[in-house]
Amino acid sequence: MKKLATIISLLLILTSCSDLDSRTLDHELAVTPNVSVEGTSPPIEDNEEVPLRSEAEGNDSPEAISSTSVDVATASTESGYSDLRLINKANPLPNGYDDKIELKEVQELYSMDSRCADYAIQMLSDAYDDGFTLSVTSAWRSVKRQTDNFNNSVFQYQQNGYSYTNAYTLTESEIAPPGSSEHNAGLALDIVNISWWTYHKILEEGFENTPEFKWLYNNCWKYGFILRYPKGKETITGYVYEPWHYRFVGVEHAEKIMKEGLTLEEYLAG
Ligand code: DAL
Ligand code: ZN
Repeated sequence: MKKLATIISLLLILTSCSDLDSRTLDHELAVTPNVSVEGTSPPIEDNEEVPLRSEAEGNDSPEAISSTSVDVATASTESGYSDLRLINKANPLPNGYDDKIELKEVQELYSMDSRCADYAIQMLSDAYDDGFTLSVTSAWRSVKRQTDNFNNSVFQYQQNGYSYTNAYTLTESEIAPPGSSEHNAGLALDIVNISWWTYHKILEEGFENTPEFKWLYNNCWKYGFILRYPKGKETITGYVYEPWHYRFVGVEHAEKIMKEGLTLEEYLAG
């Protein structure tokens, strides 16, 4: 009888594990809520050395950027594939979208929408050639996984003494509600450096002080990616600053967005 109970328990554990994404794994579950999120972060050191914004002053005019026409979410043009789909709390994905995407691996165990995967692969490879080892810690994730991440975070905050309401509010500023994450669409990558990650274990904004962040910040647009949740734009994006979260939009759009220091919301609003 005791043996039977043990077998049933084991089966239950295995069943709950299989609820996790079978198509890929990510480490987001290891991301514990950062209870210091209310604090302010240090400014990027040597901000002047980050050329994107200063370059923009001499290049693209505001008119050129505001006239950007966004009639379709995705397009394949001479400048390559692009995807301008706005995914945020007010614009969730259609039900079931997460399961319909064709995925392609970009780094061991991590996959994204196959239409933009090669851009990511090239970015990781070029960074490596430049002497920077970039490690993907989260890529495509199912809505089920997103739900677990969200609920785990609320629970963790409550464990740390927050009321349910405050725990929910803090979570909502860090983790997208299920179906509202760019990860659910396979368009986002969380990228850090392996040594930094091994030491810190959680995603926190101190990553901005690493050479890897500076490389990403300066170069991500060349591969069609943008820093999606920039510092100082929290009220527009609805999320805390995330120096690790990069969203594929396409090279042409990414260049304008990064050079002007815009959010996707601002860019699409024209
Ligand atoms: N952390 C970002 C907002 C997400 O969950 O997609
Ligand atoms: Zn992310």
